Amino acid sequence: MKKEFTVKPEAMKEQWPGQFTEIGSWHDAVIQMPQPIFLVTGWKSNGKANACLQSSTAFVGSGGELVCILGWVRKDGHMYQSLKETGCCVLNFPTRAISDQCFNTIENNGFETDEITASGLEAEKATLVNAPRVKDCFLNIECEFLWERELSPNDSSAVVIAVKAVHMAMDSDYYDQNKIGRYGKDGYLYLANAPHNPETGEIGESGYAALEIYP
Ligand SMILES: Cc1cc2nc3c(=O)[nH]c(=O)nc-3n(C[C@H](O)[C@H](O)[C@H](O)COP(=O)(O)O)c2cc1C
Repeated sequence: MKKEFTVKPEAMKEQWPGQFTEIGSWHDAVIQMPQPIFLVTGWKSNGKANACLQSSTAFVGSGGELVCILGWVRKDGHMYQSLKETGCCVLNFPTRAISDQCFNTIENNGFETDEITASGLEAEKATLVNAPRVKDCFLNIECEFLWERELSPNDSSAVVIAVKAVHMAMDSDYYDQNKIGRYGKDGYLYLANAPHNPETGEIGESGYAALEIYP
């Protein structure tokens, strides 16, 4: 039976202070739509590589361009700083096989740290933009900054940023659906964040997700 929700159901409880008022919303906790996981890489002002895991996003083709909407970028992070300073970044797409290394970037987040190599990943030169790429990822999208704007008046900590693809590199085994392909357990990696039950308040586990294609 379909239930209607206009205001936050009483049973729902925040997992951290501000989850339903500042960083996040109760609607988001209910829908918990899986989002692709990728690493945004760039140069910090000291020349060290920065790597930031992201999963709030949309990729839209428009007017012959690929515009990537980075849906929630913290203003106090290195990624925001680096993107504003250099005007470019690379979006690197990992598979499940290197997810641990990608998560290591959360711990290896010091300003003085080369976050790519410290996390067990290999850096390579980008072709067109002034940013490092992650060699281990099967798809790298090199991007230039387009615009940013506030996400909501209640969230002063993060912004939406649009970047435009200017070059990409993709492993041919992944764009050939007869070989590894882009989907399934060895393709794009998704984040399925803790889903809330709005009636009972029960919170499910977070995990990775893969895309299953129905013929
Ligand atoms: C699976 C996953 C997804 C994430 N998605 C985002 C995101 O969409 N936006 C964001 O700002 N931080 C996100 N984070 C947190 C950042 O990756 C983390 O705060 C990072 O250390 C910030 O790096 P920076 O200082 O280089 O910006 C995510 C973390 C994880 C584990």
